[in-house]
Amino acid sequence: MPILTPNWLRQLPAYASGAHQTENHENPIVLSANENNDEASPQVIHAIARAATKTHQYPETGAAQKLVASLRATHNLPQAHDGILIGNGSDELIELLCRVALTDRTQCPNPQAVMHDLGFVMYAISTTACAAEIVRIPAIAQPASQTPHLAIHTNVDGIIAAGCHNDAKIVFIANPNNPTGELLPYATLKHIVTSIPADRLIVIDVAYAEYAEEAARAHKLVYDHDNVLVLRTFSKAYALAGLRIGWAHAHHTLIEMMGRLRLPFSVNRLALEAGIAACQNPPLAHVRITQQLRDEWAHILRGWGAAVPDSHGNFLMVAMASAGQAQAVITLLNEAGVIVRPLAPYNLPYAFRMTIGTPDQMATVKPLIKHAVTEAQRLHPSH
Ligand SMILES: Cc1ncc(COP(=O)(O)O)c(C=O)c1O
Repeated sequence: MPILTPNWLRQLPAYASGAHQTENHENPIVLSANENNDEASPQVIHAIARAATKTHQYPETGAAQKLVASLRATHNLPQAHDGILIGNGSDELIELLCRVALTDRTQCPNPQAVMHDLGFVMYAISTTACAAEIVRIPAIAQPASQTPHLAIHTNVDGIIAAGCHNDAKIVFIANPNNPTGELLPYATLKHIVTSIPADRLIVIDVAYAEYAEEAARAHKLVYDHDNVLVLRTFSKAYALAGLRIGWAHAHHTLIEMMGRLRLPFSVNRLALEAGIAACQNPPLAHVRITQQLRDEWAHILRGWGAAVPDSHGNFLMVAMASAGQAQAVITLLNEAGVIVRPLAPYNLPYAFRMTIGTPDQMATVKPLIKHAVTEAQRLHPSH
């Protein structure tokens, strides 16, 4: 390429989303992207259809304000010194907050972002896109062979120690964490926030909060600490991943700075109207059913010999006895028209992640997953 490109950019891996297609199946069952596999509610679809007649006009600023007001009412977030910014998915907000906190080279020549090494990949991608350094804190794990539950825990002390380093400018915490499903209690988050100097940004990403009520308590930290930002999305329980709507809740100055960097109209008209309607129609039944299926499936998979950590999201991490076994399960399921997410890119070659689909989908995949797991164990015996 004739134009000069920075070294960090040439090395930046492109984001690889969860697959939605297999070679041999026209309509595979997709359990790879932690989406809600139900459609959005009829009221939401109606609001989108109404907004579709106005696509010749730019989005109305009033719609964003209306969505912010709906979010405050739905989540009981009274206006104080805080603000809310709507983004084109939480991915856009991650990118904006990195640009706010990681690009001032005059005050800090080598800014760092601290994160769990088994964490959501966009934290690393957006950090690298700011030419800043990623500090990955290894999880505390027990090997799959030692426990059917596979204990994988966030290294809280490691995160605090790295967050206290002078160059640390952002600490990312996903709660529940993707892909492990671990939920840190509110008291642990409070401990992290109060142990790290207040001049660095602490991002608490609660993308799966609808499935884990405790996670939503993180908003209280925004009221108590000016350096805490809570990140949320309509992509999971609200079934709006395809429209791209996320939101950030933090001190109003930080929200204002992020807003200055955001492209005009980054959230489209349909998405804003869908978000407003979705706030009036929370996915309560979906959440209840998914939580129940998730816990049943953790039990079922353990019974088939896999190691499965307790999950607080809409997905399970499933660890097999070896990378060979995990790859065999993924391939066999693919051939059967079921797509799960390999975790080799997270340095977990022996594991995959499985989204909890609809009750019908989970009934359909049950014999297929049982067959894939037992066949993989037969093909790649662990002893
Ligand atoms: C922890 C976490 N945060 C954020 C996101 C992305 O959300 P959005 O679709 O709003 O960009 C995901 C998606 O998988 C996620 O797992």
